[in-house]
Amino acid sequence: MKAAVIHEFGDVDVLKYEDVPTPEPQAGEVLIKILATGLNRLEDYIREGSIVPELEWPHILGADAAGEVAAVGEGVTGFTVGERVIPQPGFPTDPADYETRPGAATASFNLPGLHRSGTYAQYISVPARFVAKDTTGLSPEEAATLPMPLATAVRALKGIGEVKAGDKVLVHSGASGSGSMQIQVAKALGAEVATTVRSAEKAEFAKGIGADLVINTREEDFVAKVQEWSGGSGADVVIDNLGGDVLPKSIEAVKPLGVVVVFGFTAGPETTFDVRSLFFAQKQLRGAMASDIEDLEWGLEQVKAGKIKPLLDTALPLSQAGAAHKRLAEGLVKGNLVLLPWAA
Ligand SMILES: NC(=O)c1ccc[n+]([C@@H]2O[C@H](COP(=O)([O-])OP(=O)(O)OC[C@H]3O[C@@H](n4cnc5c(N)ncnc54)[C@H](OP(=O)(O)O)[C@@H]3O)[C@@H](O)[C@H]2O)c1
Repeated sequence: MKAAVIHEFGDVDVLKYEDVPTPEPQAGEVLIKILATGLNRLEDYIREGSIVPELEWPHILGADAAGEVAAVGEGVTGFTVGERVIPQPGFPTDPADYETRPGAATASFNLPGLHRSGTYAQYISVPARFVAKDTTGLSPEEAATLPMPLATAVRALKGIGEVKAGDKVLVHSGASGSGSMQIQVAKALGAEVATTVRSAEKAEFAKGIGADLVINTREEDFVAKVQEWSGGSGADVVIDNLGGDVLPKSIEAVKPLGVVVVFGFTAGPETTFDVRSLFFAQKQLRGAMASDIEDLEWGLEQVKAGKIKPLLDTALPLSQAGAAHKRLAEGLVKGNLVLLPWAA
C-alpha cells in the first residue's frame, strides 16, 4: 500500500510517499480501507521530534481516519465489508485494559501514529472494540476531520470540565482544529461560549460556528473581556489549548471555584504563575488527555443530530503530506486539513 512515512525526525520534507506492506487483520481486528485521513498538530510535533526521542523507522504518522471495512480478522462479528467506520484515535491494546477508563491512563494505551503505525496510509488494522460505525452520512473527507478534535473536545468539556447547560465557557483559538470543535461541543452541552483568535478572518469563522463572544487578542485583553461578559465573576470553565504565557491568564479568567482544563501547549510547554492566583479563590487546574470510544460515539451522535458540523479546510492527496504539515505549521488552517490516500 501507499503511505506517507518518516525515516527520521526533521522538517516537513522528511515526509516521504512510499510503498509499505499492507497490514493483515489479526484475530479480533478490523482492516479499514482509509478513504480520508485527518491531520492534527500533534503529528507536526512528533515529526519534528519534540514528543518522543525515538521511533521505529520507517514510521507512519496519523491518528485520524474515515474509511470502510476491507476485511475482518478471526472472531470478529458485527461488521460487514464496505461498511463505513471511524477508528477510535487511541486505545488500550491489552484486552485486560479494554474496559478501563480513561483508556489513556492504562499502560497499554496506544495512539496510532505515535505508539503504533498510523493513518497516513491506505489501510490500518484496529481492534474491533475500538472501531465506531459511521452513520453520520458525511463524506469521508468531512468525517476524517472529526475523530481526535471531536472526541478530545467531548472528553475535555463534558468529562473533565463537567460543563453543563447555562455555563459560561472560554475556549482558546476558536478557529483551530481543537478550538473549533470545543466551541461546538460546548454549545451542544448548552453552554455559552467565548473564544479567542488573533485575526479578523478567524474571528468571522469562530462567529460562524456559534461562539457568543469572539475576542481578538491582538486588540483586546481576553481576561477583561471575559470578566465583563460573565458579569464580573469570570468563566465557569476555561479550555486552555495554548499553555505557555496564556495559561496564567486563563487562571485569572476563571471564576472562584471554576475549572481550567489544560489541553495543549501551542503557545509553549512551560509556564510560570503565582500559586496564590489559583488557591486563594479555590480554582481548579485539571488536565485532559486523549479520549475513549464513548467520547467519539457521543460526539458522532451530536453530528448526526446536526448539532456539530465538520469543519473541512482543505483536502490534499496523501503524497502532499509535507505541504499539508507546512500549512498547519504556518497557522493558516481554519478547522481541519485532510489527506486523501487514494487520490493521484
Ligand atoms: N489533550 C489532548 O487530548 C489534545 C488533543 C488534540 C490536540 N491537543 C493539543 O491542542 C493544541 C492545539 O491543537 P490543534 O490541533 O487545535 O492546533 P491547530 O489547529 O494547529 O491550531 C493552533 C492555533 O493556535 C493559535 N496559536 C498558535 N500559536 C499561538 C500563540 N503563541 N499564542 C496564541 N495562539 C497561538 C493559532 O490560532 P490564532 O491564529 O487564531 O491565534 C493556531 O491556529 C496542541 O498543543 C495540541 O497538541 C491536545
